[in-house]
Amino acid sequence: MLDGFANEGFADVWTPVAMSRELGKAPLGLTLASERVVLFRDNAGRVSALHDRCPHRGVKLSLGKVSPDGCLECPFHGWRFASGGECSHIPLNPMPEEKRQRYAATAFPVRERGGLIWVYTRPGAEAPEEPAVPPVMEQPGIHLWHYAETWNAHWTRAMENMLDSPHLPFVHRRTIGGPMWKRMKPDSQLELEVHPTPTGFRTSWSMDGRPSDGSLEWLRPNGMQLNIPIPHRLMRLYMYCVPVDATHTRMMLVSSRDFLKLQPFARLVDLYNKRILREDQAVVESSDPIEAPPVSEERSVATDRATLAFRRWYLERKKRGPREATASTDTPEAPPLAS
Ligand code: FES
Ligand SMILES: [Fe+2]
Repeated sequence: MLDGFANEGFADVWTPVAMSRELGKAPLGLTLASERVVLFRDNAGRVSALHDRCPHRGVKLSLGKVSPDGCLECPFHGWRFASGGECSHIPLNPMPEEKRQRYAATAFPVRERGGLIWVYTRPGAEAPEEPAVPPVMEQPGIHLWHYAETWNAHWTRAMENMLDSPHLPFVHRRTIGGPMWKRMKPDSQLELEVHPTPTGFRTSWSMDGRPSDGSLEWLRPNGMQLNIPIPHRLMRLYMYCVPVDATHTRMMLVSSRDFLKLQPFARLVDLYNKRILREDQAVVESSDPIEAPPVSEERSVATDRATLAFRRWYLERKKRGPREATASTDTPEAPPLAS
């Protein structure tokens, strides 16, 4: 059951799956790594996440509704499930409470933090740790903007794109890559550094000896943090590449800053972020094969160090499963490069 997480190298991880504002009074069904998940709020507004499959006859619970007692009611025969999946009511079949508990739905650990709803991809168990929500997302005085769209891409290709700095002067020549493009000469050289961090790695680069202004961080498994240095100001972009299925990825963007909080400036900055995303989308969706392949199947160079560190982690995890792979691939090593 729920093999999609393992098949996608995505078992036992926390990931954002939806923006808080997307979940109102009605249940919200979504697909995460080919598995069906339903989110709903109980009467107190607390979020629950269940396998979107009724244990009775397998229909989508997300087609049902939240009942007055704050439980999720299946659309087919009206069974009700509480926030932890406990079966609270089976119409027309009175039975003792303890017997009814054998009819429970499968629940996922879930949190609502930073304007996002996070799910841990192991159903029916407690999560061993809390999601690594970037502190800035919960810091007072910070303007947050959440946005999501779906790409026709595998999440690994989208994630690599987000960790890839050498594409900036090409894909983003007219936006954020402009300064790099102007400085670049035919014989320019980019030096890339990758340093492990507790949540993945941090990569920075310099071109012809001149350090970059910003840096990128990989937030394992599927997040990227872009640090944009502005004197006396804070500005960070977060991008989460959330696997939907083998050919779709939900791109969830959170932009954060402590300035330009008022309309219409805020709107302009947010539109600019969206434009950058659009520039990436066209390229990433053309990837062949759709999923990042083994390292040996594509030619790589020194400036691919960061993306290959991610890829090796992913492939290892997919091959060996989450528990065995984590310890051996936490620290990115120098990738094998094409000669
Ligand atoms: S299928 Fe859900 S109650 Fe019957
Ligand atoms: Fe990009």
